[in-house]
Amino acid sequence: MIIRVENLTKVYDTGAIQVKALSNVSLSIERKEYVAIMGASGSGKSTLMNILGCLDRLTDGKYILDNVDVSTLSDNELAVIRNKKIGFVFQAFNLLPRLSALGNVELPMVYAGLSKSDRRQKAKAALEKVGLGDRMHHRPNELSGGQKQRVAIARALVNDPAIILADEPTGNLDTKSSEEIMNIFEGLNNEGVTIVMVTHERDIAQHTKRAVVFRDGEIISDKQIENRIIRGGSSK
Ligand SMILES: Nc1ncnc2c1ncn2[C@@H]1O[C@H](COP(=O)(O)OP(=O)(O)OP(=O)(O)O)[C@@H](O)[C@H]1O
Ligand SMILES: [Mg+2]
Repeated sequence: MIIRVENLTKVYDTGAIQVKALSNVSLSIERKEYVAIMGASGSGKSTLMNILGCLDRLTDGKYILDNVDVSTLSDNELAVIRNKKIGFVFQAFNLLPRLSALGNVELPMVYAGLSKSDRRQKAKAALEKVGLGDRMHHRPNELSGGQKQRVAIARALVNDPAIILADEPTGNLDTKSSEEIMNIFEGLNNEGVTIVMVTHERDIAQHTKRAVVFRDGEIISDKQIENRIIRGGSSK
């Protein structure tokens, strides 16, 4: 079990009002799973992802990540775990505009303390893996949306994370680029990476193996995907 959440509650306290974004959520995810998180706007999907990714803390309950109870860790310890175990992919790509594709992908390794030549070599390999070997020196504004997302995936991959957390990774992409991203995720999952991906779209969820649906901060359904889409249209 790589992710185990028990009776998780998250309340945002903005002073005047309190918003209960997640209420008593329990969820377990095994290594090598590929999970879609679904549900209407405001149902708590990003809140869950931020907690799973150790970007935010829970209000109540328990979160065990790879056998570590993260609710007890300090902010510094959380940052270390995040950098080691988790790769993030966001809807808006979140690339640094002044850095090349290569520079963006090298960044997490700077924090991880790798040498310059190791960083360069690994970043190149990651960009080649997502099919961007010929765009390494382009800046984000010189890349298409799909290419930007592939840079973000290369960046997420470069520290060999056990888990990829992706919040609407295809939300800003056309159908063709979305399919490319789904093909890359499928390949990574086949290599053993655990993937948890938020999506609104049924078609996109159909590429995963399991769909967990939220409503008003609670899980209302959790099912294996039937007739999964594999590699550009064929299904299994
Ligand atoms: N930083 C915050 N402070 C206060 N309330 C917040 C904060 N972030 C989210 N919320 C509230 O928590 C609830 C869940 O928000 P969340 O962003 O998790 O929804 P979501 O399912 O990701 O929605 P979407 O599909 O629109 O991205 C919403 O009611 C939202 O207004
Ligand atoms: Mg969201």
